Amino acid sequence: MHVIAIIGCGRIANFAHLPALSKQDDVRIKYACDIILEKAEKAKKDFPKIENVIEDYHIALNDSQVEAVFVLVPNFEHDRISIDALRAGKHVLCEKPIAVNYAKAKKMEEEAKKANKILNIGVCNRYSAPVATLAKYNKQGRFGRVFHVDCSFSCCRSIPGLGGPFTDSSKSGGGVLIDWGVHFLDLILYVLGGAKIETVSADTYSELAKDMKSYKYWDMWAKDTSDIENGVNDVEELISGYVRTDKASISLKGAWAQNVCADDMYIDFHGTKGGARLKYGGQFTFFNGETLEETPSNIEIPNMYEVEQRSFFDSIDTGIPDKGYISNVIEVAKLMDELYASAKIHKELSI
Ligand SMILES: NC(=O)c1ccc[n+]([C@@H]2O[C@H](COP(=O)([O-])OP(=O)(O)OC[C@H]3O[C@@H](n4cnc5c(N)ncnc54)[C@H](O)[C@@H]3O)[C@@H](O)[C@H]2O)c1
Repeated sequence: MHVIAIIGCGRIANFAHLPALSKQDDVRIKYACDIILEKAEKAKKDFPKIENVIEDYHIALNDSQVEAVFVLVPNFEHDRISIDALRAGKHVLCEKPIAVNYAKAKKMEEEAKKANKILNIGVCNRYSAPVATLAKYNKQGRFGRVFHVDCSFSCCRSIPGLGGPFTDSSKSGGGVLIDWGVHFLDLILYVLGGAKIETVSADTYSELAKDMKSYKYWDMWAKDTSDIENGVNDVEELISGYVRTDKASISLKGAWAQNVCADDMYIDFHGTKGGARLKYGGQFTFFNGETLEETPSNIEIPNMYEVEQRSFFDSIDTGIPDKGYISNVIEVAKLMDELYASAKIHKELSI
């Protein structure tokens, strides 16, 4: 039996991790922790598998029965809490992004190695069956050579929790790139089987919510953390970028908000023999120049959070790091730092 604690009882805990954990028969959730105790209490009501609620995560870290913790808190707390947990001898599954910048991510990796514990990052899409199929197609040579990848992570009106931790760079590390782009860049590097970054160029924009009170939104996810009256919004709502690697060039555009009334969430892989559009969330089409293949109907699409968690527990049991282990995903943290650095000086960077 794996005994765990979850730290942070917000959206990702309630819509993804707790439902998935409820299906893991060999897992006990000994503690649910939140600095707002009512959120932990509400989670306990909805997910009876939770045994105790606590406000201070150190209680769980001091409990020798607890083998692992899930870190499900805002980005700026990822490194501090994960490192505390590793030093207390716990395995950690920490939500994405790894941390607010690469230096902190690197420190987390060092601490995981020092503690000899598993530190996985919530790169949930890597555990989706259609993504695994595209990675396999690339290995099998069905794309020929992938020479260009284009992606869009753009919505018309979707700035999360305006004025809360998502739009305050000291708490989030950035805007749409670090929040959504992290998944897309991670998937690109994963399907390509890694790539050496050569040049990076980006521009970031914050135009539509400069004056937060005048921003017109239809629906704001993470609304409960928004503070339009007194909060901070100093992150980009739109980014465009271009990355050259030793394998393929990558063009990207991401927008939490744009005055183009379209929601486009996809990655296009352009290969010499075949190409694919991966629609974010899992489905894909693959075209080999003659026939168009939709996500094969024989691909079973299990819940990716359940698969991600199972793989984490398997790594704990075997000691073998999997595709979510920090060292296998940390390159994206570096790439995001470089994209932000390029945008800041308004110039291309050679890496
Ligand atoms: N994998 C994904 O696709 C995905 C989706 C959504 C969010 N996330 C990530 O999950 C993390 C949490 O996002 P969210 O949307 O659930 O945010 P949220 O604001 O809804 O929840 C965060 C919770 O953490 C609690 N908290 C803050 N500091 C704490 C501390 N020191 N100890 C205990 N609890 C603390 C807050 O009170 C809040 O309840 C973020 O890093 C986000 O990027 C990942």
